[in-house]
Amino acid sequence: ELIQDTSRPPLEYVKGVPLIKYFAEALGPLQSFRARPDDLLISTYPKSGTTWVSQILDMIYQGGDLEKCRRAPIFMRVPFLEFKVPGIPSGMETLKDTPAPRLLKTHLPLALLPQTLLDQKVKVRLGPLPLQVFYVDVAVSYYHFYLMAKVHPDPGTWDSFLEKFMAGEVSYGSWYQHVQEWWELSHTHPVLLPLLRRHERASAPQNPKREIRKILEFVGRSLPEETVDLMVQHTSFKEMKKDPMANYTTVPQELMDHSISPFMRKGMAGDWKTTFTVAQNECFDADYAEKMAGCSLSFRSEL
Ligand SMILES: *[C@@H]1O[C@H](CO)[C@@H](O)[C@H](O)[C@H]1NC(C)=O
Repeated sequence: ELIQDTSRPPLEYVKGVPLIKYFAEALGPLQSFRARPDDLLISTYPKSGTTWVSQILDMIYQGGDLEKCRRAPIFMRVPFLEFKVPGIPSGMETLKDTPAPRLLKTHLPLALLPQTLLDQKVKVRLGPLPLQVFYVDVAVSYYHFYLMAKVHPDPGTWDSFLEKFMAGEVSYGSWYQHVQEWWELSHTHPVLLPLLRRHERASAPQNPKREIRKILEFVGRSLPEETVDLMVQHTSFKEMKKDPMANYTTVPQELMDHSISPFMRKGMAGDWKTTFTVAQNECFDADYAEKMAGCSLSFRSEL
């Protein structure tokens, strides 16, 4: 019955940003959060490779020890700051049991981010930058996520969801604004940008070893070559999909229904091609060009 009540509440607007109702409610308690200079924040728009980067960073912090990485589900190992859903420990609760140095996750836009993270100059690993080919996959992936995760409102048809997505009327608001403002932050803060190429997807880049090395360097650690190879293997999409500590199947089915669409769905770029109609694609391209016109990264094909 509790779950019945919690299913598909409308989004709530906070400072103009639409959010999952429960996450909006978590922002008050989040004010008491205090960042530490040795925290590391993984900041992404939803469906942009967050779990993959979280898994890599946890493996690095555990010295490549697989058993230690199986100690708890990914959302317990890497507290999700604004997370709050009835019946599951909130991000703030999870934080209490998280020893430093901590890995933290957020999808919040800067307007809603606790200022303490910026004051402490916490290192930030960002999600993929505004690569257009990637962005269309985010839209498709987000639609499937709305379908299976019932803390979101009903997404409606793909066409109506796409309209809402382009207008920034989905949870966490505008993708365009999110990536642009976090990119701006990289000029003044210690921010690591991902090294995605044009046709790569964040959760399964073609050169994961290069990305893992970059992350190691960013966090000032080193691991033996064999350990890095093991990490490449263990953080592959195929492995993570069948890892119950990474694939979100420990979440009650009432909240995430993997039979509708698994959390770890495809892990590849180009899925949009089978979803977008020609008309949707044209409309989308025009909208993208307009919204990203002022962004220095918008049309780079490779980073
Ligand atoms: C998650 O992992 C478990 C354990 O390997 C597996 O049985 C299940 O099929 C996976 N779930 C999804 C949705 O991929």
